[in-house]
Amino acid sequence: MSAPRILLVGRTGQVGRELEALLRVLGELTATQRAASAEPHVRALDLSDIAAIRSVVRDVRPQWIVNAAAHTAVDKAESERELAAAINTTAPGVLAEEATQCGAALVHYSTDYVFDGSGERPWRETDPTGPLGVYGQTKLDGERAIAASGCPHVILRTSWVYAAVGHNFVRTMLRLGATRERLTIVADQHGAPTSALVIARATVEIMRQALAHGPGWFAERGGVVHLACSGETTWHGFATEIFAQARALGLTLAVNDVAPLKTADYPTPARRPLNSRLDLKRLGERFGIANPTWRDALRETLPALIAANPAT
Ligand SMILES: NC(=O)c1ccc[n+]([C@@H]2O[C@H](COP(=O)([O-])OP(=O)(O)OC[C@H]3O[C@@H](n4cnc5c(N)ncnc54)[C@H](OP(=O)(O)O)[C@@H]3O)[C@@H](O)[C@H]2O)c1
Repeated sequence: MSAPRILLVGRTGQVGRELEALLRVLGELTATQRAASAEPHVRALDLSDIAAIRSVVRDVRPQWIVNAAAHTAVDKAESERELAAAINTTAPGVLAEEATQCGAALVHYSTDYVFDGSGERPWRETDPTGPLGVYGQTKLDGERAIAASGCPHVILRTSWVYAAVGHNFVRTMLRLGATRERLTIVADQHGAPTSALVIARATVEIMRQALAHGPGWFAERGGVVHLACSGETTWHGFATEIFAQARALGLTLAVNDVAPLKTADYPTPARRPLNSRLDLKRLGERFGIANPTWRDALRETLPALIAANPAT
């Protein structure tokens, strides 16, 4: 079997970076980023430019498109509705149309924020959605645009993403914990922090299986699949674990009191779901993937994150 041509969209994001390293091994990789690059396998692509999206896909003629790009600034999206819709809805829809045209399969990522956060049971893929804000709504509309295109696809809904490089909660906690003795952290939103590495590995595993079994197999197993680390916590629980693991790695921190806070007492432009738990059964049943616990995944990424951000 010859190496498949893969187009990775959004190589500079948290998930995009981890994917790039793994996808290079899987096939012949072309990767896009917003800014121009001298690297031969990299193409410049601004996802608000629909004609440019079409032109890159037609030029590369990929067998796989992996879209790791998104407008992920949840609060900013409330005041940037058009831009969020362009990147999270229109662009994935256009990628899916082009995938249909050139016979490619599409891997795309979505979010726990498509749900309204009610109840305490982990959300299944078949549960009704009800986004609380613009980000979640535009991501849900992106899912629908892909499904409507008819291309073979998998939409991996994930949650609370962090990586060694990029802006994320872990990095923010280490920066604040270095100088502040007391922090108050939201303790009534429940979910699973998920490392970009875990997401990238599961993605490549799904693609490997699809390549081995053929298009019919993938078409039967595609659609929406939840992909997160196993277990659950709150942002408060996550912060507490970040500080414990960082200290175990020898980091000196000022923080000695992590106090719980209610979401209602921490107003933000975008409302956030209280229940972000994702049911991972389908991921296991369809692809045999069992992800590590959020604690183990943090243990794996934290040393690289600290090394990449010495002053956090
Ligand atoms: N972050 C989370 O907590 C979280 C939670 C659940 C689901 N997800 C989903 O997981 C996926 C990966 O998220 P992530 O955390 O890796 O995202 P991220 O780190 O915020 O990266 C977003 C990527 O999108 C690119 N991008 C944004 N606007 C663009 C534009 N106009 N043109 C070209 N590229 C553009 C960014 O490029 P620049 O570097 O040029 O800005 C960057 O490469 C997304 O689908 C996201 O919705 C994320």
